[in-house]
Amino acid sequence: MRSRTIAENMKYRIMTPRDLLSLLATYLGIFSIALCQSTCPIRCLCYLSQLPRTIMCSKQGLEVFPENISDVVQELNLSNNLLTNITDDINRLLDLRILKLARNKLTSLPEDLSSLKSLRTLDLTANNIKHIVDIRSIVQLPSLTVLYLSKNPLSKLEGLMSASTRALDASHCEIRELTNTSLDDLPELTMLTLMGNPLKDINKTWSPKLQWLDMSDCLLNYLRPDTFNGFPALEELRLSNNPTLVYSTRNSTLTHSKLKTLDVSRCNLDRPGLHGLPSLTQARLSRNIIHMLPDRIFAKNRELGFLYLNGNGIEKLNMSTFEGLVKLQVLDLSANYLEVIHPLTFHENVELKVLNLSYNVLYELPSLTSTVTTLDASSNLISDLDENFLANMPKIRSVILSNNQLQRFPSKLKSTSLKNLDLRRNRLVEVCNDTFLQLPQLLKIDLSGNRLTEAINPEIFRNNPDLNIIKLEDNPWRCDCIDLYLMYSFLTEPPAKTVDQSLLCQNPSNVSGYTWHTACFDIWNKSLYYNKDRTWGFVMIVLLTIVVLFGSFISIRHMMRIKRRAIEQRQQLETLRLLRQRRNQVAQQQQQQQEHIEHAPEPRIHPLELIGPPSYEEAIQMPRLAQSLDNLDEISETTSVRVMGSADNIRYKYRRTRRTKKRIQSEDDLFRREERRHERLRRERNSSTGNSEIILPQSQRNSRANMARRARRNSAISDSIETGSGRVRVKPQTPSSRKRRQRYTVYDGHSTDDEDSDVQPVGSSRSIVIRELRREPKSAYRESVVEQDS
Ligand SMILES: *[C@@H]1O[C@H](CO)[C@@H](O)[C@H](O)[C@H]1NC(C)=O
Ligand SMILES: *[C@@H]1O[C@H](CO)[C@@H](O)[C@H](O)[C@H]1NC(C)=O
Ligand SMILES: *[C@@H]1O[C@H](CO)[C@@H](O)[C@H](O)[C@H]1NC(C)=O
Ligand SMILES: *[C@@H]1O[C@H](CO)[C@@H](O)[C@H](O)[C@H]1NC(C)=O
Ligand SMILES: *[C@@H]1O[C@H](CO)[C@@H](O)[C@H](O)[C@H]1NC(C)=O
Ligand SMILES: *[C@@H]1O[C@H](CO)[C@@H](O)[C@H](O)[C@H]1NC(C)=O
Repeated sequence: MRSRTIAENMKYRIMTPRDLLSLLATYLGIFSIALCQSTCPIRCLCYLSQLPRTIMCSKQGLEVFPENISDVVQELNLSNNLLTNITDDINRLLDLRILKLARNKLTSLPEDLSSLKSLRTLDLTANNIKHIVDIRSIVQLPSLTVLYLSKNPLSKLEGLMSASTRALDASHCEIRELTNTSLDDLPELTMLTLMGNPLKDINKTWSPKLQWLDMSDCLLNYLRPDTFNGFPALEELRLSNNPTLVYSTRNSTLTHSKLKTLDVSRCNLDRPGLHGLPSLTQARLSRNIIHMLPDRIFAKNRELGFLYLNGNGIEKLNMSTFEGLVKLQVLDLSANYLEVIHPLTFHENVELKVLNLSYNVLYELPSLTSTVTTLDASSNLISDLDENFLANMPKIRSVILSNNQLQRFPSKLKSTSLKNLDLRRNRLVEVCNDTFLQLPQLLKIDLSGNRLTEAINPEIFRNNPDLNIIKLEDNPWRCDCIDLYLMYSFLTEPPAKTVDQSLLCQNPSNVSGYTWHTACFDIWNKSLYYNKDRTWGFVMIVLLTIVVLFGSFISIRHMMRIKRRAIEQRQQLETLRLLRQRRNQVAQQQQQQQEHIEHAPEPRIHPLELIGPPSYEEAIQMPRLAQSLDNLDEISETTSVRVMGSADNIRYKYRRTRRTKKRIQSEDDLFRREERRHERLRRERNSSTGNSEIILPQSQRNSRANMARRARRNSAISDSIETGSGRVRVKPQTPSSRKRRQRYTVYDGHSTDDEDSDVQPVGSSRSIVIRELRREPKSAYRESVVEQDS
């Protein structure tokens, strides 16, 4: 709160003259600083506010050392000017760390540089310094570590003194010789390049800390074995492009115990001569004239990891050539004259990862035993490959066979690790359907520049799920659009496996030079639409069929239900009619009987007594009879009892007897009984015409007639059983199933079961009756009869 009020007060305070003065002073101060910064030397750019504080005056055609350089400068760049000398004024620049004077016309440095205590890098490249004496003031620079003297007409390094210099670039000078004193006064020197000097001889030169020495592009001729003994710390030696250099003879070779990296490419070596260099890890012997590699020539180079022997004239490799190179990782044998390689040539190089055999004259590739991951055998004359050629390379990932003469790629090539297969520019005419089958890891195939004409079935890649690049350009495709379609969609469906534009037709001539897509656009699209139409049509037809079928099913079911209901109604009506007829009859009979017998306790007439003979329709629908005629007899004997007794009792009794008997009845029994039944029926009919007519009551007569009818029907059924045309029920009956069926019979009245049909006439007709009776009110029973009569 308080500070805020103060601020507000200040805002409205009236300015005093003193305030004005101080404000003016501030502005002046700022202005003077700006003025100070603007004292950047003419034609220079000053970046004094950044680190390192830099003044750039390069390429300005400056002829004299600029005046008034700010003494806070840390990096001063005066290269590419026309300076001929540096004034002592430079001693003002106490903070100077980097001084670039390259490409001027300096012939010397000031005698006194003692104030430049911070100077670390001095670049005097491409000046006109002829003698080290002219730059001897370098010795006064206590911090100098990097000194560039390249492209000066220096002929010697002797006399160059610097206690701190670590890196000296004296390349492209005119140094012809390194003597025993050349580097004497550079005790801290670790890096020296003498590249591009006309250096011929190195004579007992000594430099205890030198690690890195470049003498490439010189004129070195012969290096004695002890040449580098004066450089005990030497690790990397570059001697490339010394066209006549030889360091190894039959008897002796260059020796150094610490040297790790040697580059002697483009020299005149006729043998590797590395056996004096046991610490070597990397050797470039490219483009020499090594024609022969003796057995075990590298046996002493157990540390060697990278060996470049490309561009020599090597004609042969022996099984033991690379023995002992247990750490070899990269072996470049490209551009030699190798014709044959022994399969076991590289079997000892257990760390080998890259093997370059390109640009040789191999006409076949053996099944090399090797741990390589990359095998480059491009640009050879290989015309045939063994299908096992990857069998002994368990880690192979990439095989490059471009620019060979393969006309056929082996089928069944097997490798579980191969990812990249380069078959560019061969003479392949076709790809077999199982070529890539056993290369499950394949990611990339390059088949461009071959002679493929026919569409490839994408099926051949069915076992290469990770395949995402297939190059097929520059093949003389014959554009049979229908055949090409599968392949095209396989290749170009996103993510695309190939570049659409790279697929060009060669045949037929009217589409030569067009892309597949352009040439086949019409056909593919037409067939696509056609397919689409056909698919839609098919779908529509199927739908319609389903609808029609469903509709007809529903309507048929409905019709059947209606029919069934109509039949049921007709039956009910029929039964009702019959019932009423019977009632009338019974009523008459009762009236007659009442005159003879006392009959009072029965309140209702038993439904059984009401049943008259079934009509024809009723009989047809009644259950068929398959009972024994013995039972028929029983029935006839007990009819009188049945008439009087309860129907339930009777049914119970019959079932009990029949269950025990029928369970053991066979079909033969049935036939036999059927015959017997026929006979008895005949007999009965005969006798019935005689006496029984009068004795039997009406109901019993009816039931007899019923029985007879049923028996006739049953005989027809048994006939059908005999001929095998009818329904045969030979399935054994379990008690439960029978019970079920009985229940069904009782409640439904439509059962056609043969076994229970002896009970059925009673049960079924009774059930109908009962149903009908139940519908009528008990009290209205007789009235309805009366009504019917009236
Ligand atoms: C350098 O500074 C001096 C005095 O400070 C002045 O006389 C001279 O003109 C300046 N030179 C340049 C090139 O600015
Ligand atoms: C350098 O070699 C010369 C002869 O070439 C010899 O006189 C001189 O003593 C040698 N100097 C050293 C330090 O070895
Ligand atoms: C190659 O090895 C065989 C035996 O392994 C030997 O007889 C032959 O001289 C060797 N050839 C070369 C060039 O080393
Ligand atoms: C093999 O050598 C050739 C030529 O020397 C080079 O072009 C190619 O890239 C090399 N292959 C590998 C895999 O390094
Ligand atoms: C591959 O092609 C050959 C003949 O070219 C045929 O007999 C074989 O059934 C084909 N196999 C598959 C998997 O298509
Ligand atoms: C090229 O000619 C063939 C018949 O020779 C024909 O079927 C095809 O449609 C033609 N293609 C084009 C793009 O005209």
